[in-house]
Amino acid sequence: MNKNVRKAVIAGNWKMNMTPSETAKLLSGLIPMVKGKNGCDIVVCVPFVDLMTAVTLTAGTNIKVGAQNVHFEKKGAFTGEISADMLKECGAEYVVIGHSERRQYFGETDATVNLRLKAALAADLTPILCVGELLDERDRGITTEVVSMQTKIALLDVSAEDMSKVIIAYEPVWAIGTGRTATAEQAEEVCAVIRSVVAEKYGTEVAESVTIQYGGSMKPSNAAELLAKVNVDGGLIGGASLVASDFTAIIDAAQ
Ligand code: PGA
Repeated sequence: MNKNVRKAVIAGNWKMNMTPSETAKLLSGLIPMVKGKNGCDIVVCVPFVDLMTAVTLTAGTNIKVGAQNVHFEKKGAFTGEISADMLKECGAEYVVIGHSERRQYFGETDATVNLRLKAALAADLTPILCVGELLDERDRGITTEVVSMQTKIALLDVSAEDMSKVIIAYEPVWAIGTGRTATAEQAEEVCAVIRSVVAEKYGTEVAESVTIQYGGSMKPSNAAELLAKVNVDGGLIGGASLVASDFTAIIDAAQ
């Protein structure tokens, strides 16, 4: 297992935070702080209405921009939805798919996650596919089964070539926004399970190259320990990505 074949990806998930003017302020602070830190890819996944501001401000910098969801149809009568082509044309390069908050509050299922993932790939967006167990599922000892199934269904009908463009984020639901981080050992264990699911389907070469992030209360104080694990190739960061100095400290830990 060679971690060095994979570039770490540190992605901020801003969730429903930051207006366009607040976006401009946060990014203006962040851009100089992370300049030249090229040991990892840096992404900010912003609300739809902030995309244009974020893309314009980060042009020519080492920060890339993503969205937090995408609809699976190309166009049509889907009031309130945003297509992959729309995101692409706005300059987004990444999109978070199947975040647990979408699964919990907005009826997202493994089947719709699969459709969204394929729509993102078809538009040449890099999907950040989120998987992770509930606390109850962990307590019942079925974390491996739950996360494996989520991963397998999300990747149905995804070719090996497309798989090489997918990022997977392991986010235990009980660790998101709770301040309760998975231990580095817990994160490593499940990220390794995810990699083995990818290996089973696509072979070891693809599995070795896929970036698997950890997400869930990652912060400056625990990032280095989590990122040191051989199967943890980056982070998807919520709360700490809203503070430029905290996000920068996590990026430093990934250099
Ligand atoms: P958190 O969120 O870092 O605030 O726990 C992570 C996420 O939901 O992606």
